[in-house]
Amino acid sequence: MSTRMTQLLNAFDATLPLSKARTIPSAWYFDSEIFALECAQVFGRNWQYVGRSELVKDPGSYLTVEVAGAPILVVRDEQGTLRAFHNACRHRAAQVINEPCGHATKLRCRYHGWTYDLAGQLRGTPEFDGVEEFKKDEQGLPPMHVETWGPFVFVNQGTPKQSLAEHLMPLPAMMAGEGIDTLRYFDRREYVLECNWKVFVDNYQDGGYHVNTVHPGLAAALDYSKYRTELHASNTVQISPMKPSDDPTVAKVRAGTHAYYWWMFPNLMVNLYQGVMDTNWVLPLGPDRCRVIFDFYFADVESAEAKRYNADSIAVAHQVQMEDWGVCEEVQRGLKSRSYDTGRFSVKREAGGYFFHQLLAKSLRE
Ligand code: FES
Ligand SMILES: [Fe+2]
Repeated sequence: MSTRMTQLLNAFDATLPLSKARTIPSAWYFDSEIFALECAQVFGRNWQYVGRSELVKDPGSYLTVEVAGAPILVVRDEQGTLRAFHNACRHRAAQVINEPCGHATKLRCRYHGWTYDLAGQLRGTPEFDGVEEFKKDEQGLPPMHVETWGPFVFVNQGTPKQSLAEHLMPLPAMMAGEGIDTLRYFDRREYVLECNWKVFVDNYQDGGYHVNTVHPGLAAALDYSKYRTELHASNTVQISPMKPSDDPTVAKVRAGTHAYYWWMFPNLMVNLYQGVMDTNWVLPLGPDRCRVIFDFYFADVESAEAKRYNADSIAVAHQVQMEDWGVCEEVQRGLKSRSYDTGRFSVKREAGGYFFHQLLAKSLRE
């Protein structure tokens, strides 16, 4: 590692108490070497959310995704085993599967027609006779670890230090009574933001600090005085009691006694209200850009009345996202100001933000 990078990584002190802590330096939000290190260390070696379990339920079903520059393929083989691979053909590295999801009996690369079975073994190599020192059984798709929790599939491209269940603790136990399994996927929204992926996470992790100022509509439904953040091993949960909102559009679709905002290191967030769940998945596209994907789940996704309700709920989430979008891009511009390097944390509100920076620094330094 270069001296410059070592200095940059050492510029953040993760040992301070929150009352004395500073954020990670601004360069971590736009430096291309930091970005490359994050892709390798943070996204390449930790559990990563990759998509919905129901897409890979049946033998032959698959999903593909690109996480921080790594093309990934998850497939359920004929025996029912869930498998994940690097989605790069062993011949010239084309993506073996290009569709975001679907069904297949074999994996056929469209470039020169090599085929792999659903277990990733190379089976067909047209016009390859006479190639020496080439063993087909050593040319399978490189596998990676894959596990599911409820509606979510995760992979780990490295050697997992812990199982997915341990990584997620105590989320599965805490959410067991909240009926997540009864919710059904309904729809997706995608946004490309001109900011570093961490700006979006920081914004999520500020313990409700910006809710009253940036989200007046949502603020009316939350009892902000009792909003609290819990820190766990690799995730956090922000819990707020709900109150009846005087804004009828919000009140109708943000009911129940509590709102839960889960964040799982590094880039998955799950928002849960009564009968309503959405995942906010932020994928880095470069130091200055990220894709944010919202998947919406509801108790009822069939009846016409439910569909109207669900659309209204999505409209409220979209409004909140538009409000966040503005501040996130503004923050990215400010981080590049010569005047700004680090900031301080509210002890009352921003424990989650500092915790994110601590986990991030640990992962980058490992
Ligand atoms: S790149 Fe896949 S067959 Fe050539
Ligand atoms: Fe927000």
